[in-house]
Amino acid sequence: MRLGRGLFRATLLAAAATSVAPAPAIAQAMLQPPPKTMPANPTVNHNDWYKNGIIYEVYPRSFADSNNDGIGDIQGIVKHLDYIQSLGADAIWMTPMFPSPQADFGYDVSDYDNVDPQFGTVADVDQLVAQGKGRGVKVLLDFVVNHTSDQHPWFLQSKSSRTNPYRDYYVWRDPKADGSPPNNWASIFGGSAWTLDPTTKQYYYHFFYPQQPDLNWRNPKVEKAMFDAAEWWLKRGVYGYRLDAVDTMFERADLKNNTVYPGVDAFGVPNQDHVNNSKQPEVHTELQRLRQMVIDKYPGRILVGETWTSDAQELVQYYGPRNNELQLPMFLNLISLPALTAPDLRQRITGVETNSVGGWPSFALSNHDSRRAASRYPVPPGASTDDWSKITGALLLTLRGTPVLYYGEELGMVNNDPQRIEDVQDVIGKKGWPKEKGRDGERTPMQWDASANAGFNAGAKPWLPVAPDYRTRNVAAESADPHSVLSFYRTLIALRRTHPAMSGDWKAVDTDDRQVLAYQRSGGGKTVLVLLNLDAKPADVPIEKTETMDVLQPLAINRALLISGSVHLDPLGVYVAEVTPIP
Ligand code: NOJ
Ligand code: CA
Repeated sequence: MRLGRGLFRATLLAAAATSVAPAPAIAQAMLQPPPKTMPANPTVNHNDWYKNGIIYEVYPRSFADSNNDGIGDIQGIVKHLDYIQSLGADAIWMTPMFPSPQADFGYDVSDYDNVDPQFGTVADVDQLVAQGKGRGVKVLLDFVVNHTSDQHPWFLQSKSSRTNPYRDYYVWRDPKADGSPPNNWASIFGGSAWTLDPTTKQYYYHFFYPQQPDLNWRNPKVEKAMFDAAEWWLKRGVYGYRLDAVDTMFERADLKNNTVYPGVDAFGVPNQDHVNNSKQPEVHTELQRLRQMVIDKYPGRILVGETWTSDAQELVQYYGPRNNELQLPMFLNLISLPALTAPDLRQRITGVETNSVGGWPSFALSNHDSRRAASRYPVPPGASTDDWSKITGALLLTLRGTPVLYYGEELGMVNNDPQRIEDVQDVIGKKGWPKEKGRDGERTPMQWDASANAGFNAGAKPWLPVAPDYRTRNVAAESADPHSVLSFYRTLIALRRTHPAMSGDWKAVDTDDRQVLAYQRSGGGKTVLVLLNLDAKPADVPIEKTETMDVLQPLAINRALLISGSVHLDPLGVYVAEVTPIP
Protein backbone atom coordinates (compact mmCIF):
# COMPACT_ATOMS: atom_id res chain seq x y z
CA MET A 1 0.00 0.00 0.00
CA ARG A 2 1.39 3.31 -1.10
CA LEU A 3 0.82 6.67 0.55
CA GLY A 4 1.10 9.88 -1.41
CA ARG A 5 3.33 9.75 -4.50
CA GLY A 6 5.41 6.83 -3.35
CA LEU A 7 6.76 8.63 -0.35
CA PHE A 8 6.61 5.47 1.69
CA ARG A 9 4.55 2.39 2.00
CA ALA A 10 2.42 1.36 4.89
CA THR A 11 0.32 -1.70 5.43
CA LEU A 12 -2.34 -1.53 8.05
CA LEU A 13 -2.78 -4.82 9.85
CA ALA A 14 -4.77 -5.74 12.88
CA ALA A 15 -2.48 -6.56 15.78
CA ALA A 16 -4.28 -9.84 16.20
CA ALA A 17 -3.28 -10.83 12.70
CA THR A 18 0.43 -9.97 12.96
CA SER A 19 3.41 -11.15 14.93
CA VAL A 20 3.95 -7.63 16.28
CA ALA A 21 3.74 -7.82 20.04
CA PRO A 22 1.05 -5.45 21.33
CA ALA A 23 2.63 -2.41 22.88
CA PRO A 24 1.70 -1.51 26.44
CA ALA A 25 -1.04 1.08 26.91
CA ILE A 26 0.37 4.27 25.49
CA ALA A 27 -0.17 7.63 27.03
CA GLN A 28 -0.73 10.70 24.93
CA ALA A 29 2.43 12.28 23.66
CA MET A 30 2.24 15.98 22.89
CA LEU A 31 4.96 16.44 20.38
CA GLN A 32 3.71 19.84 19.45
CA PRO A 33 2.72 21.54 22.70
CA PRO A 34 -0.31 23.78 22.44
CA PRO A 35 0.75 27.30 21.50
CA LYS A 36 0.64 30.10 24.02
CA THR A 37 -0.97 32.33 21.41
CA MET A 38 -3.00 30.88 18.59
CA PRO A 39 -1.46 31.67 15.19
CA ALA A 40 -3.42 33.70 12.65
CA ASN A 41 -5.86 32.22 10.15
CA PRO A 42 -3.74 31.60 7.03
CA THR A 43 -6.43 32.64 4.52
CA VAL A 44 -5.11 35.23 2.10
CA ASN A 45 -8.36 36.30 0.45
CA HIS A 46 -10.23 37.70 3.42
CA ASN A 47 -13.66 37.10 1.96
CA ASP A 48 -12.78 33.39 2.14
CA TRP A 49 -11.92 33.59 5.83
CA TYR A 50 -14.21 30.68 6.63
CA LYS A 51 -12.22 28.22 4.50
CA ASN A 52 -9.40 27.93 7.00
CA GLY A 53 -11.55 29.01 9.89
CA ILE A 54 -13.16 27.24 12.78
CA ILE A 55 -16.70 28.02 13.81
CA TYR A 56 -17.44 27.61 17.49
CA GLU A 57 -21.05 27.02 18.44
CA VAL A 58 -22.11 28.88 21.58
CA TYR A 59 -25.42 28.08 23.26
CA PRO A 60 -25.85 31.39 25.12
CA ARG A 61 -28.14 29.98 27.80
CA SER A 62 -25.36 27.63 28.91
CA PHE A 63 -22.08 29.39 28.19
CA ALA A 64 -21.60 31.96 30.96
CA ASP A 65 -24.01 33.84 33.21
CA SER A 66 -22.78 37.38 33.85
CA ASN A 67 -25.66 38.57 36.05
CA ASN A 68 -25.98 35.44 38.18
CA ASP A 69 -29.62 34.71 37.43
CA GLY A 70 -28.89 31.11 36.43
CA ILE A 71 -29.20 31.74 32.69
CA GLY A 72 -26.24 32.39 30.44
CA ASP A 73 -26.21 35.67 28.54
CA ILE A 74 -24.42 37.75 25.92
CA GLN A 75 -22.21 39.58 28.41
CA GLY A 76 -21.09 36.14 29.58
CA ILE A 77 -19.87 35.47 26.03
CA VAL A 78 -18.17 38.89 25.85
CA LYS A 79 -16.36 38.06 29.09
CA HIS A 80 -14.96 34.88 27.56
CA LEU A 81 -13.91 36.23 24.17
CA ASP A 82 -10.26 35.87 25.15
CA TYR A 83 -10.83 32.17 25.66
CA ILE A 84 -12.63 31.83 22.33
CA GLN A 85 -9.76 33.61 20.63
CA SER A 86 -7.19 31.45 22.44
CA LEU A 87 -8.96 28.38 21.13
CA GLY A 88 -8.44 29.58 17.56
CA ALA A 89 -12.10 30.11 16.70
CA ASP A 90 -12.57 32.47 13.77
CA ALA A 91 -16.28 32.89 14.38
CA ILE A 92 -18.90 32.01 16.89
CA TRP A 93 -22.33 30.81 15.88
CA MET A 94 -24.59 32.02 18.66
CA THR A 95 -27.84 30.04 18.84
CA PRO A 96 -31.00 32.20 19.10
CA MET A 97 -30.94 35.04 21.58
CA PHE A 98 -33.99 36.86 20.11
CA PRO A 99 -37.09 37.62 22.19
CA SER A 100 -38.89 34.34 22.67
CA PRO A 101 -41.32 32.62 25.01
CA GLN A 102 -38.58 29.92 25.11
CA ALA A 103 -40.93 27.05 24.30
CA ASP A 104 -37.98 25.62 22.34
CA PHE A 105 -35.28 27.64 24.13
CA GLY A 106 -35.10 30.42 21.59
CA TYR A 107 -36.03 28.51 18.44
CA ASP A 108 -39.46 30.14 18.77
CA VAL A 109 -38.73 33.76 17.89
CA SER A 110 -41.24 36.50 18.67
CA ASP A 111 -39.16 39.42 17.32
CA TYR A 112 -36.30 38.98 14.85
CA ASP A 113 -34.92 42.50 15.37
CA ASN A 114 -34.31 42.37 19.07
CA VAL A 115 -32.71 40.53 21.97
CA ASP A 116 -34.50 38.69 24.73
CA PRO A 117 -33.94 40.60 28.00
CA GLN A 118 -32.83 37.41 29.70
CA PHE A 119 -29.86 37.34 27.30
CA GLY A 120 -29.20 41.08 27.19
CA THR A 121 -29.76 43.90 24.71
CA VAL A 122 -29.01 44.85 21.13
CA ALA A 123 -26.18 46.98 22.56
CA ASP A 124 -24.70 43.79 24.06
CA VAL A 125 -24.69 42.16 20.61
CA ASP A 126 -23.03 45.29 19.20
CA GLN A 127 -20.40 44.99 21.91
CA LEU A 128 -19.89 41.29 21.18
CA VAL A 129 -19.44 42.09 17.49
CA ALA A 130 -17.01 44.95 18.18
CA GLN A 131 -14.95 43.15 20.80
CA GLY A 132 -14.96 39.99 18.70
CA LYS A 133 -13.68 41.97 15.73
CA GLY A 134 -10.71 43.18 17.76
CA ARG A 135 -9.82 39.54 18.40
CA GLY A 136 -10.48 38.14 14.92
CA VAL A 137 -13.68 36.43 16.10
CA LYS A 138 -16.70 37.05 13.88
CA VAL A 139 -20.29 36.65 15.05
CA LEU A 140 -22.83 34.52 13.21
CA LEU A 141 -26.43 34.48 14.38
CA ASP A 142 -29.01 31.72 14.08
CA PHE A 143 -31.76 32.59 11.62
CA VAL A 144 -34.91 30.60 12.37
CA VAL A 145 -36.42 30.63 8.92
CA ASN A 146 -39.02 27.88 9.02
CA HIS A 147 -41.26 29.16 11.79
CA THR A 148 -41.85 31.89 14.34
CA SER A 149 -43.21 31.76 17.84
CA ASP A 150 -46.99 31.57 18.17
CA GLN A 151 -46.51 34.80 20.16
CA HIS A 152 -44.92 36.66 17.24
CA PRO A 153 -47.12 39.66 16.34
CA TRP A 154 -47.44 38.25 12.81
CA PHE A 155 -49.04 35.07 14.14
CA LEU A 156 -51.21 36.88 16.68
CA GLN A 157 -52.56 38.94 13.78
CA SER A 158 -52.79 35.91 11.51
CA LYS A 159 -54.91 33.88 13.88
CA SER A 160 -57.20 36.79 14.75
CA SER A 161 -59.40 36.36 11.66
CA ARG A 162 -59.48 34.63 8.29
CA THR A 163 -59.34 38.00 6.55
CA ASN A 164 -56.50 39.53 8.53
CA PRO A 165 -53.70 40.82 6.22
CA TYR A 166 -51.27 38.52 8.05
CA ARG A 167 -53.43 35.41 7.55
CA ASP A 168 -51.25 34.20 4.66
CA TYR A 169 -48.02 34.63 6.60
CA TYR A 170 -48.69 31.10 7.90
CA VAL A 171 -50.12 27.86 6.53
CA TRP A 172 -53.84 27.60 7.29
CA ARG A 173 -56.19 24.88 5.99
CA ASP A 174 -59.75 23.74 6.57
CA PRO A 175 -60.46 20.60 8.59
CA LYS A 176 -61.56 17.49 6.76
CA ALA A 177 -65.33 16.86 6.69
CA ASP A 178 -65.09 14.89 9.96
CA GLY A 179 -63.21 17.75 11.63
CA SER A 180 -59.85 15.97 11.59
CA PRO A 181 -56.57 17.59 10.41
CA PRO A 182 -56.12 18.26 6.67
CA ASN A 183 -53.66 15.36 6.22
CA ASN A 184 -51.52 12.84 8.11
CA TRP A 185 -48.37 14.93 8.49
CA ALA A 186 -46.78 14.42 11.92
CA SER A 187 -44.73 16.94 13.85
CA ILE A 188 -41.22 15.65 14.59
CA PHE A 189 -41.77 16.98 18.11
CA GLY A 190 -44.79 14.71 18.67
CA GLY A 191 -48.38 14.40 17.46
CA SER A 192 -50.07 15.89 14.41
CA ALA A 193 -48.36 18.76 12.58
CA TRP A 194 -51.71 20.58 12.57
CA THR A 195 -53.40 22.46 15.42
CA LEU A 196 -56.98 23.67 15.22
CA ASP A 197 -57.58 27.31 16.03
CA PRO A 198 -60.99 27.41 17.73
CA THR A 199 -61.66 31.05 16.77
CA THR A 200 -61.25 30.80 13.01
CA LYS A 201 -61.93 27.05 12.82
CA GLN A 202 -58.98 26.28 10.60
CA TYR A 203 -55.84 24.28 11.30
CA TYR A 204 -52.39 25.85 11.20
CA TYR A 205 -49.32 23.85 10.28
CA HIS A 206 -46.22 23.36 12.45
CA PHE A 207 -43.39 20.92 11.68
CA PHE A 208 -42.13 21.42 15.26
CA TYR A 209 -44.15 22.36 18.39
CA PRO A 210 -47.61 23.95 18.09
CA GLN A 211 -45.87 27.04 19.57
CA GLN A 212 -43.76 27.17 16.38
CA PRO A 213 -46.16 27.81 13.45
CA ASP A 214 -44.54 27.42 10.02
CA LEU A 215 -44.15 30.54 7.93
CA ASN A 216 -45.67 30.51 4.45
CA TRP A 217 -42.65 31.28 2.26
CA ARG A 218 -44.87 31.27 -0.83
CA ASN A 219 -46.13 34.65 0.34
CA PRO A 220 -43.77 37.39 -1.01
CA LYS A 221 -44.51 39.50 2.07
CA VAL A 222 -42.99 36.78 4.26
CA GLU A 223 -39.87 36.75 2.13
CA LYS A 224 -39.59 40.54 2.33
CA ALA A 225 -40.08 40.65 6.09
CA MET A 226 -37.58 37.87 6.71
CA PHE A 227 -34.97 39.27 4.33
CA ASP A 228 -35.28 42.65 6.05
CA ALA A 229 -34.68 40.98 9.40
CA ALA A 230 -31.58 39.21 8.05
CA GLU A 231 -30.22 42.45 6.69
CA TRP A 232 -30.91 44.35 9.88
CA TRP A 233 -28.26 42.34 11.74
CA LEU A 234 -25.79 42.32 8.85
CA LYS A 235 -25.83 46.10 8.95
CA ARG A 236 -24.80 45.85 12.60
CA GLY A 237 -21.69 43.89 11.64
CA VAL A 238 -22.94 40.34 12.06
CA TYR A 239 -21.07 38.08 9.61
CA GLY A 240 -23.91 35.83 8.53
CA TYR A 241 -26.19 33.09 9.70
CA ARG A 242 -26.57 29.50 10.57
CA LEU A 243 -29.93 28.77 8.98
CA ASP A 244 -32.23 26.70 11.14
CA ALA A 245 -34.37 23.89 9.71
CA VAL A 246 -34.00 24.91 6.06
CA ASP A 247 -35.31 21.56 4.85
CA THR A 248 -38.78 22.32 6.09
CA MET A 249 -39.28 25.83 4.69
CA PHE A 250 -41.70 24.51 2.07
CA GLU A 251 -44.24 21.74 1.97
CA ARG A 252 -46.22 20.37 -0.95
CA ALA A 253 -49.05 22.75 -1.75
CA ASP A 254 -51.44 19.85 -2.48
CA LEU A 255 -50.86 18.49 1.04
CA LYS A 256 -50.31 14.93 -0.19
CA ASN A 257 -50.22 12.45 2.70
CA ASN A 258 -46.87 11.04 3.78
CA THR A 259 -46.34 7.31 3.48
CA VAL A 260 -46.64 5.59 6.83
CA TYR A 261 -44.39 2.69 7.68
CA PRO A 262 -44.27 0.17 10.54
CA GLY A 263 -43.56 1.19 14.11
CA VAL A 264 -44.09 4.36 16.08
CA ASP A 265 -41.83 7.32 16.91
CA ALA A 266 -40.73 8.27 20.44
CA PHE A 267 -44.09 9.99 20.95
CA GLY A 268 -46.21 6.98 19.91
CA VAL A 269 -47.12 8.37 16.46
CA PRO A 270 -46.83 5.96 13.48
CA ASN A 271 -43.56 6.46 11.62
CA GLN A 272 -43.73 8.35 8.34
CA ASP A 273 -41.25 9.52 5.72
CA HIS A 274 -41.87 13.35 5.79
CA VAL A 275 -41.21 13.35 2.06
CA ASN A 276 -44.04 15.75 1.25
CA ASN A 277 -43.27 18.30 3.93
CA SER A 278 -39.50 18.59 3.67
CA LYS A 279 -36.76 19.07 1.08
CA GLN A 280 -39.02 20.58 -1.55
CA PRO A 281 -37.30 22.10 -4.63
CA GLU A 282 -38.48 25.59 -3.67
CA VAL A 283 -36.09 25.51 -0.69
CA HIS A 284 -33.14 25.93 -3.03
CA THR A 285 -34.70 28.74 -5.03
CA GLU A 286 -35.45 30.62 -1.83
CA LEU A 287 -32.01 30.15 -0.30
CA GLN A 288 -30.43 31.36 -3.53
CA ARG A 289 -32.57 34.47 -3.33
CA LEU A 290 -31.49 35.06 0.28
CA ARG A 291 -27.87 34.73 -0.79
CA GLN A 292 -28.21 37.04 -3.76
CA MET A 293 -30.56 39.66 -2.34
CA VAL A 294 -29.12 39.93 1.17
CA ILE A 295 -25.87 38.12 1.94
CA ASP A 296 -23.85 38.96 -1.16
CA LYS A 297 -24.44 42.67 -0.62
CA TYR A 298 -22.00 42.43 2.30
CA PRO A 299 -18.51 41.09 1.44
CA GLY A 300 -17.34 38.07 3.41
CA ARG A 301 -20.75 37.28 4.86
CA ILE A 302 -21.76 33.63 4.88
CA LEU A 303 -24.66 31.23 5.16
CA VAL A 304 -24.20 28.00 7.09
CA GLY A 305 -26.95 25.43 6.72
CA GLU A 306 -28.57 23.06 9.17
CA THR A 307 -28.67 20.60 6.32
CA TRP A 308 -29.63 17.11 7.42
CA THR A 309 -29.12 15.13 4.27
CA SER A 310 -29.09 11.42 3.61
CA ASP A 311 -25.81 11.53 1.69
CA ALA A 312 -23.28 13.78 -0.01
CA GLN A 313 -25.21 13.90 -3.30
CA GLU A 314 -28.12 15.47 -1.52
CA LEU A 315 -25.85 17.76 0.46
CA VAL A 316 -24.18 19.31 -2.56
CA GLN A 317 -27.49 20.57 -3.88
CA TYR A 318 -27.24 23.20 -1.14
CA TYR A 319 -24.22 24.81 -2.79
CA GLY A 320 -26.49 25.84 -5.65
CA PRO A 321 -25.82 25.33 -9.36
CA ARG A 322 -23.20 28.13 -9.45
CA ASN A 323 -22.13 28.05 -5.83
CA ASN A 324 -24.83 30.65 -5.35
CA GLU A 325 -26.63 29.12 -2.38
CA LEU A 326 -24.98 28.25 0.96
CA GLN A 327 -21.24 28.58 1.46
CA LEU A 328 -21.31 26.00 4.22
CA PRO A 329 -24.04 23.38 4.13
CA MET A 330 -22.96 21.37 7.17
CA PHE A 331 -22.46 17.65 6.64
CA LEU A 332 -24.26 16.45 9.76
CA ASN A 333 -24.51 12.75 8.97
CA LEU A 334 -21.51 11.86 11.12
CA ILE A 335 -23.35 13.06 14.23
CA SER A 336 -26.20 10.62 13.94
CA LEU A 337 -24.30 7.43 13.12
CA PRO A 338 -24.88 4.69 15.70
CA ALA A 339 -21.16 3.83 15.55
CA LEU A 340 -18.04 5.32 13.98
CA THR A 341 -16.22 2.77 11.87
CA ALA A 342 -13.34 3.23 9.47
CA PRO A 343 -15.10 1.84 6.34
CA ASP A 344 -18.25 3.85 6.89
CA LEU A 345 -16.46 7.13 7.66
CA ARG A 346 -14.12 6.66 4.72
CA GLN A 347 -17.02 6.16 2.37
CA ARG A 348 -18.98 9.16 3.70
CA ILE A 349 -16.04 11.57 3.76
CA THR A 350 -14.96 10.44 0.30
CA GLY A 351 -18.53 11.12 -0.79
CA VAL A 352 -18.29 14.71 0.45
CA GLU A 353 -14.86 15.15 -1.11
CA THR A 354 -15.83 13.86 -4.53
CA ASN A 355 -19.22 15.53 -4.70
CA SER A 356 -18.49 18.96 -3.27
CA VAL A 357 -16.44 20.05 -6.28
CA GLY A 358 -16.38 23.82 -6.33
CA GLY A 359 -18.04 24.05 -2.93
CA TRP A 360 -16.28 24.06 0.40
CA PRO A 361 -17.09 21.22 2.86
CA SER A 362 -18.12 21.76 6.44
CA PHE A 363 -18.32 19.08 9.11
CA ALA A 364 -19.85 18.97 12.58
CA LEU A 365 -19.59 16.11 15.03
CA SER A 366 -21.72 17.53 17.83
CA ASN A 367 -24.32 20.19 18.46
CA HIS A 368 -27.03 21.22 20.92
CA ASP A 369 -29.45 18.61 19.52
CA SER A 370 -27.26 15.52 19.79
CA ARG A 371 -25.52 13.56 22.52
CA ARG A 372 -22.00 14.76 23.15
CA ALA A 373 -19.36 12.80 21.26
CA ALA A 374 -17.78 11.61 24.52
CA SER A 375 -21.07 10.00 25.57
CA ARG A 376 -22.24 8.62 22.27
CA TYR A 377 -20.35 5.37 21.77
CA PRO A 378 -19.21 2.46 23.97
CA VAL A 379 -15.77 3.00 25.52
CA PRO A 380 -13.36 0.11 24.80
CA PRO A 381 -11.61 -1.48 27.82
CA GLY A 382 -8.60 0.55 28.88
CA ALA A 383 -9.82 3.68 27.14
CA SER A 384 -11.92 6.56 28.49
CA THR A 385 -14.46 9.08 27.24
CA ASP A 386 -11.50 11.47 26.82
CA ASP A 387 -10.17 9.16 24.15
CA TRP A 388 -13.45 9.45 22.26
CA SER A 389 -13.17 13.22 22.56
CA LYS A 390 -9.62 13.15 21.23
CA ILE A 391 -10.28 10.86 18.29
CA THR A 392 -13.45 12.70 17.23
CA GLY A 393 -11.61 16.02 17.71
CA ALA A 394 -8.71 14.77 15.61
CA LEU A 395 -11.14 13.73 12.89
CA LEU A 396 -13.07 17.00 12.89
CA LEU A 397 -9.95 19.16 12.95
CA THR A 398 -7.90 17.35 10.33
CA LEU A 399 -10.56 17.01 7.65
CA ARG A 400 -10.62 19.45 4.76
CA GLY A 401 -13.50 21.85 5.24
CA THR A 402 -14.67 24.11 8.01
CA PRO A 403 -15.20 22.43 11.39
CA VAL A 404 -18.16 23.54 13.47
CA LEU A 405 -17.21 22.84 17.06
CA TYR A 406 -19.84 22.71 19.82
CA TYR A 407 -18.85 24.45 23.06
CA GLY A 408 -17.39 22.11 25.67
CA GLU A 409 -16.42 19.40 23.20
CA GLU A 410 -12.90 20.75 23.47
CA LEU A 411 -12.98 19.87 27.19
CA GLY A 412 -14.35 16.40 26.60
CA MET A 413 -17.60 17.35 28.33
CA VAL A 414 -19.99 14.41 28.73
CA ASN A 415 -23.77 14.31 28.67
CA ASN A 416 -25.37 14.96 32.03
CA ASP A 417 -28.82 13.55 31.36
CA PRO A 418 -31.82 14.10 33.62
CA GLN A 419 -32.66 11.11 35.83
CA ARG A 420 -36.26 12.09 36.59
CA ILE A 421 -38.95 13.53 34.38
CA GLU A 422 -39.50 16.31 36.96
CA ASP A 423 -36.03 17.63 36.17
CA VAL A 424 -36.46 17.78 32.39
CA GLN A 425 -36.44 21.23 30.76
CA ASP A 426 -36.63 20.32 27.08
CA VAL A 427 -40.22 19.74 25.98
CA ILE A 428 -39.16 16.86 23.74
CA GLY A 429 -37.99 15.10 26.89
CA LYS A 430 -41.18 15.93 28.78
CA LYS A 431 -43.32 14.55 25.95
CA GLY A 432 -41.13 11.59 25.04
CA TRP A 433 -39.98 10.43 28.49
CA PRO A 434 -38.54 7.85 29.11
CA LYS A 435 -37.86 6.78 25.53
CA GLU A 436 -36.78 10.29 24.56
CA LYS A 437 -35.09 12.15 27.43
CA GLY A 438 -34.66 15.34 25.44
CA ARG A 439 -31.58 17.47 24.84
CA ASP A 440 -30.81 18.79 28.33
CA GLY A 441 -27.86 16.42 28.79
CA GLU A 442 -25.79 18.04 26.04
CA ARG A 443 -26.72 21.60 27.01
CA THR A 444 -25.34 21.77 30.55
CA PRO A 445 -23.26 24.77 31.67
CA MET A 446 -19.79 25.29 30.25
CA GLN A 447 -17.16 24.20 32.75
CA TRP A 448 -14.77 27.07 33.30
CA ASP A 449 -13.08 26.25 36.59
CA ALA A 450 -13.38 24.27 39.81
CA SER A 451 -15.38 26.89 41.71
CA ALA A 452 -19.06 26.40 42.56
CA ASN A 453 -21.21 26.11 39.41
CA ALA A 454 -18.00 25.52 37.43
CA GLY A 455 -17.48 29.29 37.04
CA PHE A 456 -20.65 29.49 34.90
CA ASN A 457 -21.87 31.99 37.46
CA ALA A 458 -21.48 32.89 41.10
CA GLY A 459 -25.14 33.12 41.94
CA ALA A 460 -28.44 31.41 41.26
CA LYS A 461 -28.70 27.71 40.50
CA PRO A 462 -27.88 27.23 36.79
CA TRP A 463 -30.87 26.43 34.61
CA LEU A 464 -29.43 22.93 34.06
CA PRO A 465 -27.21 21.11 36.54
CA VAL A 466 -23.45 21.35 36.04
CA ALA A 467 -21.97 17.94 35.17
CA PRO A 468 -20.44 16.27 38.27
CA ASP A 469 -16.95 16.03 36.74
CA TYR A 470 -16.51 19.83 36.59
CA ARG A 471 -13.87 20.01 39.37
CA THR A 472 -11.33 18.33 37.13
CA ARG A 473 -12.88 18.83 33.70
CA ASN A 474 -12.74 22.57 33.17
CA VAL A 475 -10.91 25.20 31.15
CA ALA A 476 -8.57 26.22 33.98
CA ALA A 477 -7.48 22.69 34.89
CA GLU A 478 -7.18 21.50 31.31
CA SER A 479 -5.21 24.54 30.20
CA ALA A 480 -2.57 23.61 32.77
CA ASP A 481 -2.43 19.95 31.71
CA PRO A 482 -0.52 19.18 28.51
CA HIS A 483 -2.31 15.83 28.22
CA SER A 484 -5.84 17.21 28.51
CA VAL A 485 -8.47 17.09 25.81
CA LEU A 486 -8.24 20.89 25.61
CA SER A 487 -4.48 20.84 25.01
CA PHE A 488 -4.98 18.19 22.33
CA TYR A 489 -7.58 20.36 20.60
CA ARG A 490 -5.36 23.43 20.80
CA THR A 491 -2.47 21.52 19.25
CA LEU A 492 -4.65 20.33 16.39
CA ILE A 493 -6.19 23.75 15.81
CA ALA A 494 -2.74 25.35 15.71
CA LEU A 495 -1.66 22.68 13.25
CA ARG A 496 -4.67 23.47 11.11
CA ARG A 497 -3.75 27.13 11.09
CA THR A 498 -0.02 26.75 10.44
CA HIS A 499 0.67 23.65 8.40
CA PRO A 500 0.46 24.11 4.60
CA ALA A 501 -0.80 20.55 4.14
CA MET A 502 -3.86 21.38 6.22
CA SER A 503 -4.99 23.88 3.59
CA GLY A 504 -4.55 21.26 0.88
CA ASP A 505 -6.18 18.10 -0.42
CA TRP A 506 -7.67 15.18 1.46
CA LYS A 507 -7.13 11.62 0.31
CA ALA A 508 -8.00 8.29 1.91
CA VAL A 509 -5.23 5.71 2.10
CA ASP A 510 -5.35 2.01 2.99
CA THR A 511 -8.87 1.97 1.71
CA ASP A 512 -9.58 -1.66 2.67
CA ASP A 513 -8.71 -1.33 6.31
CA ARG A 514 -11.59 -2.06 8.65
CA GLN A 515 -9.98 -0.74 11.85
CA VAL A 516 -7.97 2.34 11.04
CA LEU A 517 -9.22 5.35 9.14
CA ALA A 518 -6.09 6.59 7.39
CA TYR A 519 -5.83 9.67 5.21
CA GLN A 520 -3.40 12.26 4.18
CA ARG A 521 -3.60 15.99 3.69
CA SER A 522 -1.28 17.44 1.09
CA GLY A 523 -0.53 21.01 0.14
CA GLY A 524 2.36 23.45 -0.28
CA GLY A 525 4.70 20.53 -0.99
CA LYS A 526 3.96 18.98 2.42
CA THR A 527 1.99 15.97 3.55
CA VAL A 528 0.37 15.13 6.86
CA LEU A 529 -0.70 11.57 7.61
CA VAL A 530 -3.62 10.91 9.97
CA LEU A 531 -4.24 7.47 11.47
CA LEU A 532 -7.35 6.96 13.61
CA ASN A 533 -7.99 3.56 15.17
CA LEU A 534 -11.76 3.46 15.56
CA ASP A 535 -11.76 -0.17 16.56
CA ALA A 536 -12.04 -1.74 20.02
CA LYS A 537 -8.86 -3.74 19.28
CA PRO A 538 -5.31 -2.41 18.85
CA ALA A 539 -3.94 -2.01 15.35
CA ASP A 540 -0.47 -1.81 13.83
CA VAL A 541 0.53 0.13 10.78
CA PRO A 542 3.90 -1.12 9.52
CA ILE A 543 5.73 1.57 7.60
CA GLU A 544 7.89 0.15 4.83
CA LYS A 545 10.86 2.17 3.67
CA THR A 546 11.51 2.83 0.00
CA GLU A 547 14.53 4.48 -1.66
CA THR A 548 12.77 7.80 -1.37
CA MET A 549 11.67 6.92 2.12
CA ASP A 550 10.61 9.77 4.20
CA VAL A 551 10.37 9.92 7.94
CA LEU A 552 7.34 10.51 10.07
CA GLN A 553 7.52 13.65 12.12
CA PRO A 554 4.86 13.23 14.81
CA LEU A 555 2.57 16.21 15.39
CA ALA A 556 -0.22 15.02 17.70
CA ILE A 557 -0.57 11.60 19.25
CA ASN A 558 -2.89 9.83 21.66
CA ARG A 559 -2.58 6.15 22.55
CA ALA A 560 -0.21 5.51 19.68
CA LEU A 561 3.52 5.01 19.20
CA LEU A 562 5.99 4.58 16.37
CA ILE A 563 8.06 1.50 17.25
CA SER A 564 10.56 -0.07 14.91
CA GLY A 565 8.97 0.99 11.69
CA SER A 566 5.40 0.42 12.74
CA VAL A 567 2.78 2.70 14.21
CA HIS A 568 1.00 0.91 17.02
CA LEU A 569 -2.42 2.31 17.88
CA ASP A 570 -4.36 1.24 20.93
CA PRO A 571 -8.16 1.30 20.62
CA LEU A 572 -9.15 4.92 19.83
CA GLY A 573 -5.51 5.72 19.16
CA VAL A 574 -4.64 8.81 17.13
CA TYR A 575 -1.42 9.37 15.21
CA VAL A 576 -0.96 12.59 13.23
CA ALA A 577 2.45 13.06 11.64
CA GLU A 578 4.15 14.99 8.90
CA VAL A 579 5.71 12.91 6.15
CA THR A 580 9.03 14.61 5.50
CA PRO A 581 10.95 13.94 2.29
CA ILE A 582 14.62 13.00 2.58
CA PRO A 583 16.47 15.71 0.67
C1 NOJ B 1 -33.07 22.80 14.88
C2 NOJ B 1 -32.50 23.36 16.14
O1 NOJ B 1 -31.13 23.08 16.18
C3 NOJ B 1 -33.26 22.73 17.27
O2 NOJ B 1 -32.67 23.00 18.52
C4 NOJ B 1 -34.68 23.23 17.20
O3 NOJ B 1 -35.45 22.58 18.19
C5 NOJ B 1 -35.30 22.95 15.82
N1 NOJ B 1 -34.42 23.26 14.74
C6 NOJ B 1 -36.55 23.76 15.62
O4 NOJ B 1 -36.22 25.11 15.44
CA1 CA C 1 -27.87 35.70 33.08
